[in-house]
Order: sequence, then C-alpha cells, then structure tokens
Amino acid sequence: MSGEDLYDDSHIAFLEDLWGEGFLSPGGPEEVARVLDGVDLRGKYVLDIGCGSGAIAVLLVREHGAAHVTGIDVEDPVCAAARARVAAAGLSDRITVEKVVPGPFPFRDQSFDVVFSKDSIIHIPDKEALAAEAFRVLKPGGRFAASDWLRSHDGAPSAEMAHYIRLEALDFAMASPERYRAAMDGAGFRDVELVNRSPWYAGEAAAELQELSGPNRADWEARHDAAFIAHQIETWQAMVPVLRTGEHCPHHIRGRKPA
Ligand SMILES: C[S@@+](CC[C@H](N)C(=O)[O-])C[C@H]1O[C@@H](n2cnc3c(N)ncnc32)[C@H](O)[C@@H]1O
Repeated sequence: MSGEDLYDDSHIAFLEDLWGEGFLSPGGPEEVARVLDGVDLRGKYVLDIGCGSGAIAVLLVREHGAAHVTGIDVEDPVCAAARARVAAAGLSDRITVEKVVPGPFPFRDQSFDVVFSKDSIIHIPDKEALAAEAFRVLKPGGRFAASDWLRSHDGAPSAEMAHYIRLEALDFAMASPERYRAAMDGAGFRDVELVNRSPWYAGEAAAELQELSGPNRADWEARHDAAFIAHQIETWQAMVPVLRTGEHCPHHIRGRKPA
C-alpha cells in the first residue's frame, strides 16, 4: 500500500462497514439500479470508472447481465480488494480490474457500449476532459450512466461547505450540475439528463450520522479506531447540513452518444 492512498485499507474497511461489502459509496444495489434507469446492460461491454473495491462491477455482471466489465481505479488497495472480490465471485473471465494513472483512458476509441461510474468523478477535476474521454471510448449509440457528488454552484463554497470539504480530505473536486451538463453537451452527448439525489442522500446521511454517533458508537469504535470514528462523526455532522441546503447535491448523470 502506498502512503499516499486516500482509500487505504482502514478507510475501505470503514466505508464497507457503513455502506456494504465492496461498496465505497452509499445506496447499495438499489441505488446502482437507479443510476442505470433506462440503460440495458445485457450482453454489453462496460467501463466502470473508479471501480473501488469492486462490488458494483460484480453486480453489473450478475444482476444486470453485462457481458464484461472493465473496472479502472488509481489506487492499489482498492484494485487489490476488487480483484480479490472478482476472483471469489468466480468472475475473473468477465471482469478485469486495471490500475490506471489519472488522465486519458488507456483504451481505443469505441471500446465500450456503456460507461458507468459511481461517486468517483468527484476526484477528477477536469470534467470536460472526462466527458470527452467517455465519449471517445463509447461505441456509437453507447450510453453514459453515472452517479457523482456535485455542488450547487461553481463559485466560492459557503463557509459550511468549505468546512465540510476540508474535513473529507479526499481531494474532492466538486462541480455544479451546469458545468457537468455543459461538459457532456460539449463532448457530443445527446439526451443529457441530470437527476438531483440530495433529498434522498440528506435523509440517508442523517441516519448514518445517527448510526455512528448514537448507541452503536462503541461498536464502531471497537471495530475501527476511536479517533477515526470521531473524525468521521465530525465529517458527517458537517455534511448533513450542506446536503439539507442542497449545496452538496449528489446527482445521476446520463447521456447517449449518437448512433
Ligand atoms: C467514493 S469511491 C467509489 C468507488 C466505487 N465506485 C463505489 O461506488 O463503491 C471513489 C473511487 O474513485 C477512485 N478514483 C480517484 N481518482 C480517480 C481517477 N482519476 N480515475 C479513476 N478512479 C479514481 C478512488 O480511488 C476510489 O476508489
């Protein structure tokens, strides 16, 4: 493990404890299904950007019928966890996990039917380049379906939002729905659709904060480090208000490459 990994083994263990085995983002299989609303994966070749520890890649094959998923990520611990999960699921012939460097994807033009991503593009500052790369690697008629954590505007964050982003310490590069839409349109996508998920996640996050800080706190501290849990509680206490105001606004983003 590199000392610079943001999602190191202890962080992976905590997030999976909160969100489910192999999930480093909220919502589980139901939320993945909502991201894929109207996008049929059966028999399709799928790119999963920021695959994390791999439960979603497994889900895309097992539950959604993808022929093959290529999961890419930039950090060793998550790639190792994802590869182990894929092998344990007996799906090594249908899922490959590749460690990549940030920047252009190491794939030929028109390699995939669907580009998927769940809550990972937040780590990629250049949304325009990302949209152009997704468009390039999609086959004509291919679909883009992602979830990501956005913020309501591209100006200076409010003091509450800046405080929250500082606590996350995860290199967040949040952008507005308008910037995402312009990036998708500019890349050439059609039927671009953004769905605001902050009303849903505001409720979820409040329940997560209650789980971490309520009667179960001692159990969390026993399974993870007490100081680490205290920091997570502080982070969630900062996150819930900015979800409620809507400044922190997770969205689903979909688009279609013209046939
Ligand atoms: C919040 S996790 C989500 C992981 C997974 N999609 C899930 O929902 O469980 C974000 C992931 O994005 C990865 N990531 C960060 N920068 C990236 C980049 N430039 N390209 C691809 N993945 C990246 C991180 O290493 C991490 O695994």
